[in-house]
Amino acid sequence: MTALTASPAWQALTAHHAQIKDAHLRELFADDPGRAERFSAEGAGLFLDYSKNRITGETLRLLLQLAEERGVTKRRDAMYAGDKINTTERRAVLHVALRAPRGSVIKVDGADVVPDVHKVLDAMADFATRLRSGAFTGHTGKRIRNVVNIGIGGSYLGPEMAYRALRPFSDRSMTFRFVANVDGADFHEATLGLDAAETLFIVSSKTFTTLETMTNAATARAWLVGKLGSDAAVAKHFAAVSTNIPGVTEFGIDPANTFGFWDWVGGRYSMDSAIGLSTMLAIGPDNYRAMLAGFHAMDEHFHTAPAAANLPMLLGLLTVWYNNFFGAQTLGVMPYSAHLARLPAYLQQLQMESNGKHVDLDGQVVNYQTGPIIWGEPGTDGQHSFYQLLHQGTKLVPCDMIGFCKPLSPLIEQHDLLMANLFAQAEALAFGKTEQELKAEGSPDFQRPFRVMQGNRPTNMILAEKLDPVTLGALVALYEHSVFVQGAIWKIDSYDQWGVELGKALASRIIPELSHGSEPALAHDASTNALISRYRRLRG
Ligand code: F6P
Repeated sequence: MTALTASPAWQALTAHHAQIKDAHLRELFADDPGRAERFSAEGAGLFLDYSKNRITGETLRLLLQLAEERGVTKRRDAMYAGDKINTTERRAVLHVALRAPRGSVIKVDGADVVPDVHKVLDAMADFATRLRSGAFTGHTGKRIRNVVNIGIGGSYLGPEMAYRALRPFSDRSMTFRFVANVDGADFHEATLGLDAAETLFIVSSKTFTTLETMTNAATARAWLVGKLGSDAAVAKHFAAVSTNIPGVTEFGIDPANTFGFWDWVGGRYSMDSAIGLSTMLAIGPDNYRAMLAGFHAMDEHFHTAPAAANLPMLLGLLTVWYNNFFGAQTLGVMPYSAHLARLPAYLQQLQMESNGKHVDLDGQVVNYQTGPIIWGEPGTDGQHSFYQLLHQGTKLVPCDMIGFCKPLSPLIEQHDLLMANLFAQAEALAFGKTEQELKAEGSPDFQRPFRVMQGNRPTNMILAEKLDPVTLGALVALYEHSVFVQGAIWKIDSYDQWGVELGKALASRIIPELSHGSEPALAHDASTNALISRYRRLRG
């Protein structure tokens, strides 16, 4: 394969960008009445309007040519076939198998993994049904009403995001809390006011070695045993989700409450594996399966839809367009739904841990930009905070905007207000306000320069009928596959995360240096030594 920046499509895109970089969305729309229709696509219940992007038909043609030259569909097929495309860890990447319908066949090393997936799903469903009905009780015979998920990164962000997103579908008589941070305040606040006799802890960790999670799990055990007065209570108040079953057994969690998954599921791609146990406990097995069906519908769409009408392909290529040709450093994700408040945080790990790489699959340092910084907030909150910079700042910030036609609350009029804001913001960002328009409105001379809105700020609009389990699954899968497309273009391993290792190792070295009583001599750099010394002095 030719080096990315020397490839014909890349070269052509570079020349094309020079030609159209100043074209304004006002002109692009004025010149092409069919633009909105032409630059839109639909799949798995999601509608994507990408017409408010700084592209022409030629841009799209060249981006699709780039995908072709980079073998994106070939790599996609290799992923779906269970090939070990995570080369640095020599692992298959098969989150699509987690939502494959019963009876489909997906092989890793010659063995079909789908029956195992459904075995775990069935076990989770059985556990969830017993717990939700009150048949599964705690150590004292009381019904479990509180669920505390202990996990971090992919073992936290997906479950918390999904719980918040699908709360209207959850059992409102139950309380769900999430502990991730090793800061004891996180555990303390999450358990404050909970009756231990009614509380289940789910220790979620792919590796079952993560410092934060293991520390919080040990704290939880001490908390529970302290409150209920017996070690035997652990069996009835702990469940575990992990690929490391020996680790779980050693911790002492009942194998009957232990749910496994596999090394071909990346942590940040695991919210629909057993890591989603808290989600299933909240919304029930049927809704959980509906969510999996949504994921699967998007998997099918990505696998079969022609590239020009393929949502993840389009979204991924547009990210590359702004990232590599316009030099945009970030991508904003603005859900117009209070329920999706944690989606940006979830997508941060998904995208940045996947595509924040500076070395390609051959181990060569790349000479182009890779993954953008992902950030965002629910839409109308953002409007009263950072949208000023989006509208009038000096940086180009492409944004994905996400909205739903049906509200989840009975306050229907408020939903119209919310959606009016969504549509208005995308319109304002694209078309802005000219000096002439301001003059015609009678805006005073001295203010006019400050009120001009240049526009030409690109957005993708993702619309769905309603935020329900099916839609959430499709939406998450859309982003998973968009991340895949970007990684395939950049020829990086989107499924490893070596960059997190050094910090973990250094923390392990520093931990004993902070222990009370023994304060060994420090041999770090001068700054780290001074900071540790100051901490030792001031902590009291
Ligand atoms: O430190 C990063 C990471 O390894 C993520 O990739 C992962 O999602 C998270 O830590 C948690 O890991 P685990 O599920 O093994 O506890």
